[in-house]
Amino acid sequence: MLGIIGAMEEEVAELKRRMEIEEVSEVASMSFYRGKLEDKEVVIVRSGIGKVNAAVCAQILIDRFHVDTLINTGIAGSLDAQIDIGDMVISTDAVEHDMDASAFGDPVGQVPQMDTFSFPADEKLIKLAKEVNERINPDIHTWTGRIVSGDQFVASSQVKERLIALFGAKCTEMEGAAIAHTAYLNKISCVIIRAISDKADNSAEMDYPAFEELAIRHSVRLVCALAAEM
Ligand code: ADE
Repeated sequence: MLGIIGAMEEEVAELKRRMEIEEVSEVASMSFYRGKLEDKEVVIVRSGIGKVNAAVCAQILIDRFHVDTLINTGIAGSLDAQIDIGDMVISTDAVEHDMDASAFGDPVGQVPQMDTFSFPADEKLIKLAKEVNERINPDIHTWTGRIVSGDQFVASSQVKERLIALFGAKCTEMEGAAIAHTAYLNKISCVIIRAISDKADNSAEMDYPAFEELAIRHSVRLVCALAAEM
């Protein structure tokens, strides 16, 4: 079973429209839509924004819906001058950028006492998502690389530069690493698929509303095409 998580209603609304809904269940104030998307058994859910909502949602998908693959879809702020609004980023791994136990000598982002610094995406899913996007969205750049998540909308060049220096990540958002972390603990596969809505700098508040819809369209198109190939 495939679980698809978007943080905001706008990010999952079109996916829900395109699916054949068989059952809707309410758990932890979230609505889980089980049914078929492109003939694939899926559960689609809006987690709400931020790492806690995302982790709770992912664990419910695993425990109650027996999901063995998680896709996190949505939008993100670019952390690379080459990565433009509308481009797609597929995660190779994810880090919680606001985890900071550096007072004890851990690098920023390291969850203390865990055996990994970053939470990896599934190799096969990365490859498939990249291939599918290059085929269905040939005019849109596909990037693969690290995604960082934190409970923070990044809208300043200073914060952006710090994230680039610390993590060398491609983009930043607010849920992906929490979902990848949950997948890691449960030993299931996952990938984060994000379309860029802004540059995570001082223009982010202006760009975000203007490009949110376009970015969501790109990510929805990829998630549907990917589900069809899985
Ligand atoms: N989602 C989209 N843009 C973002 C940004 N700049 N920071 C955090 N999450 C985002």
